[in-house]
Amino acid sequence: MAKKRTSGLANRPIGIFDSGIGGLTVANAIQKVLPNESLVYFGDTAHLPYGDKSPDSIKYYAIRISQFLLKQQCKMIVIACNTASAMAYETVKDFVGDAVPVIDVINPVVEHVTGIAGSKKIGVIGTKGTIKSDIYAKKIHAKNKKLEVASLATPLLAPMIEEGFFNNKISRTVIGSYLDSRKLSKIDSLILACTHYPLIRPEVEDYYKGKVLIVDSAGVVADRVKSVLAENELLAPKRKPVHHFYVSDFTKSFEESTRNFFRSKIHLEKKDIWL
Ligand code: DGL
Repeated sequence: MAKKRTSGLANRPIGIFDSGIGGLTVANAIQKVLPNESLVYFGDTAHLPYGDKSPDSIKYYAIRISQFLLKQQCKMIVIACNTASAMAYETVKDFVGDAVPVIDVINPVVEHVTGIAGSKKIGVIGTKGTIKSDIYAKKIHAKNKKLEVASLATPLLAPMIEEGFFNNKISRTVIGSYLDSRKLSKIDSLILACTHYPLIRPEVEDYYKGKVLIVDSAGVVADRVKSVLAENELLAPKRKPVHHFYVSDFTKSFEESTRNFFRSKIHLEKKDIWL
């Protein structure tokens, strides 16, 4: 178990990780809500996609990445990936102990959707790993047994978005054919349970024409990060933050794609943490 950190904590960065660059949607939302916070982001591009990996592999990657973020003196760890949150949240929490708070992307969203008045049937779309774990249904039912939950694996969406296919004919066709699924009929809200999906949110909204409430994790998780930092007196003072964005495998195309996820192009640094 990692040691508890005690001094100058508020000045330290927030650690964020994902299988790749999808988690940058969460990092971007955090940066908007908390403009003084420095961020250390790790995208495990060498092992992407997590959606098809075994729980054991994801747990191993998540521990090694958390170890790296703690070495970077991070004051909090945010698991900005639904698949890693579904499979490794408890493992990361056990590993980190009380050294720093750990935030996943599932619990804040579940609390948010179960608080929506009048909701009867909630749809969930995500990677094969997230949907197979059935974690949203389990957590939603633990809060409210009466809510119906319909989950659908949509494995083409993350690679499609990563390749820059969104807001065009191809993406509309793929999104439409998933959302046409009978499983999702009569839903009143839809959880976009993958950190890549905020990029297709406008197309999903167009599909439902305002009849279904669309919930993505970025904003909800950023608000949770803010409240947990405040509770722990860890909010950074007013300052110009310094961000670092690391990846386990570097390609020019990853770096080009960051613009879509973070709203500005960022410099990615390759880091080998597996030695
Ligand atoms: N960003 C990951 C998530 O939220 C999906 C991509 C992957 O399969 O690695 O689940």
